[in-house]
Amino acid sequence: KTVTAFAPATVANVSCGFDILGFAIDQMGDKVTVTPNDLQQLRVIGIIGDGGKLPLEPDKNTCSVAIQAMLDHLESNQGIDIYLEKGLPLGSGMGSSAASAAAALVAANELLGNPYDKIGLVPFAMEAECIACGSAHADNVAPSILGGFVLIRDYHPLDIIPLPVPQNLFCTLVHPHIELRTADSRSVLRKQLSLKEAVMQSGNIAGFIAALYENDLALLGRSLKDVIAEPSRALLIPGFYELRSGIQFLGALGSGISGSGPTIFILSPDQKTAEAVGGKAKEVFAQIGLGVDVF
Ligand code: HSE
Repeated sequence: KTVTAFAPATVANVSCGFDILGFAIDQMGDKVTVTPNDLQQLRVIGIIGDGGKLPLEPDKNTCSVAIQAMLDHLESNQGIDIYLEKGLPLGSGMGSSAASAAAALVAANELLGNPYDKIGLVPFAMEAECIACGSAHADNVAPSILGGFVLIRDYHPLDIIPLPVPQNLFCTLVHPHIELRTADSRSVLRKQLSLKEAVMQSGNIAGFIAALYENDLALLGRSLKDVIAEPSRALLIPGFYELRSGIQFLGALGSGISGSGPTIFILSPDQKTAEAVGGKAKEVFAQIGLGVDVF
């Protein structure tokens, strides 16, 4: 038996929800195929689309680390061969490592007769995130596994809340051609917040969640603010503020850093706006002389 699973790109943080909010993107993502072997070991037998950059060692690859965590929990020594097709750029802030782990887990779970429901797979994917970037955050892996918007209300113990998705919400992803490692963009974060900042961040995350339930895109746009990570991380992303001011009058709901960057996400209420924003992004980055991909 062979099982193939797809897991999508994700936008973590979504400005107001540092480490606790993320959503999945339609279409783009990674694919993993798993096949049982009789060797009682996990093997990463091939990877395409990574430019040779990802490790094949089972204790370093996010697919095998995630599946191993699941097998350990099941006390199983089932051998599995893993084949990874990367559709997402590495170090982009689009949840690339998370998508590989998520697809691997969904595929392996099915191979084993679905011992876990989807939420049950999240802790295993977090172990892979820890290997990939030194922090076991769930705001990429949870939406990559579950789809839609997901809140991680707490980590100890893990409390994962799937959220409603508004009817008309379009996301433009602008990926400047620089690579940022999550570990590095976490290291620039301030360790302390003022009371005033904590109050602002709580207001915005609460507003954002209310907007999802009310399908209120104006409120959603007003809530796209971040006083925790954006002020320090934006400095690592050339063109970030230029893009924000460039799209100011195009009708988008708001913009922010996707996960730990450098990708910038922009939310729009319709496809036409999302495309206009993408066109503007190309202009802005051409002006500063940095290559971009727009999705
Ligand atoms: N919440 C994580 C961070 C997401 O901002 O570091 C990383 O993609």
